[in-house]
Amino acid sequence: MVNERTLIIVKPDALNRDLAGEAISRFERKGLKIVAMKMEHLPVYKLKEHYAHLAEKAFFEELIKYMSSIPSILMVLEGKEACKVARKLIGGTYGREAEPGTLRGDYSVSNQMNLVHASETPEIAEKEIKNFFAEKEIFEYNKTNFDWIYARDSKGEIV
Ligand code: TYD
Repeated sequence: MVNERTLIIVKPDALNRDLAGEAISRFERKGLKIVAMKMEHLPVYKLKEHYAHLAEKAFFEELIKYMSSIPSILMVLEGKEACKVARKLIGGTYGREAEPGTLRGDYSVSNQMNLVHASETPEIAEKEIKNFFAEKEIFEYNKTNFDWIYARDSKGEIV
């Protein structure tokens, strides 16, 4: 299945540090397909829903303050195992510990200002995408380079 989707948020620190293009470019060059993209100053109520699993944490209020400080760029990316692929590209949560070569590993030294969000699993992605995108904002289209991004095995499966 190549149509797994993931939600990416290019966070306020990436915009402030002129790293938005770099972040978007890395996902694009990897071969993930951009099927939705917009800029939005994320409202506190949507962020509280997005980060509901962290509501009890001591850093929650600061996290919401940072994420709602200036606009973010949001994308829906599609691809085979898109969630796993995007998570690997962004690296671990803490910038100082994230592997070099990843977005966070290359550009973040913070436990909070870590530049990008990417959904953890396809099930979580589905919920997160619904929180931030209307169905009509997500595009279906063919890319002419598809056959150079994925191969097919002898059974015709995408590999
Ligand atoms: P989390 O969902 O655990 O990590 P990830 O973004 O890698 O999926 O946490 C969400 C965000 O909360 C994280 O990107 C940055 C912030 N955060 C902190 O500020 N301090 C922390 O100790 C943790 C774990 C996260």
